[in-house]
Amino acid sequence: MNDLNSLAHDLDNCASCPLRKDCIAPVGWFGDSHSPLVIVGEGPGGVEDEYGCPLIGPSGQLLDKALWSVKITREHILTTNVIKCRPKGNRTPTPEEAKICADKWLTQELAIIQPKAIIALGGVALKYFRGPQARITQERGKWFRTPQGYDAIATFHPSYLLRLTGKAQIAAKWDVFHDLQAARAKVLETVPDYHFCSDQPYPLFRHFTKRN
Ligand code: URA
Repeated sequence: MNDLNSLAHDLDNCASCPLRKDCIAPVGWFGDSHSPLVIVGEGPGGVEDEYGCPLIGPSGQLLDKALWSVKITREHILTTNVIKCRPKGNRTPTPEEAKICADKWLTQELAIIQPKAIIALGGVALKYFRGPQARITQERGKWFRTPQGYDAIATFHPSYLLRLTGKAQIAAKWDVFHDLQAARAKVLETVPDYHFCSDQPYPLFRHFTKRN
């Protein structure tokens, strides 16, 4: 067992907060446990809770398209979330819930992986790293250091892109494209030969089945 496998086993048995009783089970991470790039989303939605995989539902599918546009496929990076248990009714987790969960799990994941760059997807992930005053509209696209010393950049969450329409959606998609490109380039500064991409997008649904 590598360290992430044993962490996954511990996560399966987590009952540290009340969110656990309202979901099927915690959702951990997916991808390469040695990846220099980690993408941190908000928390599992309904599809993620059903399949036990982060970012596999509508947001994840849009994320995969965006990643493909910068020549990244999911199995070469690691995707995870701030919060591991789906809040009832898909509500946004509170900053307190996010902190309790991420201080316990996400910090351990990152300590094991030691990524060269982190992409914080959306406001919940940004606020976890930067504090409750941080605003995604002001801070996306700017590099910062997390309290644990990782280089990180925030970008818009795919669920936000899905809610936008028209020119606003096109502009925000371009912003995300540039942020993903910047993160890829940041990794290549220190790991110049890192292999980010397969010939095909990774078929997540072929590898995960519904759990209950
Ligand atoms: N699903 C996830 O796993 N994370 C998100 O941030 C949104 C949907």
